Amino acid sequence: MSEGIIQADQPPELTGESPDLFSKFDDFIAMRQSVLDTGIEDPFNLVMEKVLSPTRAICNGRETILLGTYNYMGMTFDPDVIEAGKQALTDFGSGTTGSRVLNGTYQGHRECEDALREFYAMDHAMVFSTGYQANLGIISTIAGKGDYVVLDIDSHASIWDGCALGNAEVVPFKHNDVAALEKRLKRIPAGAGKLVVLEGVYSMLGDVAPLKEMVRICKENGAMVLVDEAHSMGFIGEHGRGVCEDQGVIDDVDFIIGTFSKSVGTVGGFCVSNHPKFEIMRLVCRPYVFTASLPPSVVATAATSIRKLMHGSNKRAHLWENSRNLHAGLRELGFSLGTPEAQSAIIAVIMPDLEKGATMWEALLKEGLYVNLARPPATPANMTLLRCSLCAEHSEEEVATILQIFERAGKAVGII
Ligand SMILES: Cc1ncc(COP(=O)(O)O)c(C=O)c1O
Repeated sequence: MSEGIIQADQPPELTGESPDLFSKFDDFIAMRQSVLDTGIEDPFNLVMEKVLSPTRAICNGRETILLGTYNYMGMTFDPDVIEAGKQALTDFGSGTTGSRVLNGTYQGHRECEDALREFYAMDHAMVFSTGYQANLGIISTIAGKGDYVVLDIDSHASIWDGCALGNAEVVPFKHNDVAALEKRLKRIPAGAGKLVVLEGVYSMLGDVAPLKEMVRICKENGAMVLVDEAHSMGFIGEHGRGVCEDQGVIDDVDFIIGTFSKSVGTVGGFCVSNHPKFEIMRLVCRPYVFTASLPPSVVATAATSIRKLMHGSNKRAHLWENSRNLHAGLRELGFSLGTPEAQSAIIAVIMPDLEKGATMWEALLKEGLYVNLARPPATPANMTLLRCSLCAEHSEEEVATILQIFERAGKAVGII
């Protein structure tokens, strides 16, 4: 018998019953059960039975306004986008069955990267299978042993996981705190490689990073900068390039990470850069090399959508109107909000606790409105949030209806 296999005549401590590997989740299971025991519908198990448009779906047999999809620019039902996907499905088949570095690079992947280079006016673009993998891959590959990654404490899980996959030292700083970032950077030993990872919009509260000051401090301290623009691409900035564009620092950042799963309206992730050696990433970045590439229909829809977003200024203006109207209306009703004014297309409504949050979530759904319930540990400061994400396809009347639903549900649950 091979070494390491436990045999019957071995001492009891070796043959004794192993702990259930799931026991580490017991507290979490109990918390979830306590919410379900109140009779509330499971907020993390909603099924969209039919999707009618970027802003409407049938949920529990009822037409529902969607206010929690991150479909900011409403591209999922754009006729040109859909047609491009259908054509690619017919011409190239349903999937590539391979990695980008073997049989998985089709004409469509190149066209999608061309569209991204044009969209950002940058030299290099690399498409990943998801935004999660883009962060995982780029962060873990460029920051190696002896290097330092300095990141905002409220960074997205994919950024933390990119740090965990790599071998660099990880140094978090207080959320959006310019002085804390500077202090951390100054403490890094001289001569060490430094990567600062920031987000344009933080998705829990919908607040924007002070990138202008932060990028200046990074440059003064010799750090490379990566900005995740997942929640700002397509919407923020004159050309929709994100908060980096809006705050005038796009030429100073080294890498922009983004996703196709929000404004672009499909699935996938990317990194754009002007670094002259960037193309080597295609051979050394494991989450790019060791996974199958996106299906041809997906990259065709993404490329078409990105090209249309370049000309989306009217939609961007309408989305800002929606966001400001919803923020002002909710504040007037007496709800406590995550930001003092609308800073992005995410408006976070702060709930007193998880039970009230889940009750309010269900009350909204019963009235025909879907929002996201967010709870610790995903949220900062242990907050329970109802996160609303607006879409450029929401009409003014829909925003008014949303506010009426919030008012009725908020009064019924006793939050306002
Ligand atoms: C800031 C941020 N980065 C990355 C991602 C991952 O994107 P994807 O859905 O493409 O994996 C998300 C998704 O929610 C995100 O919010």
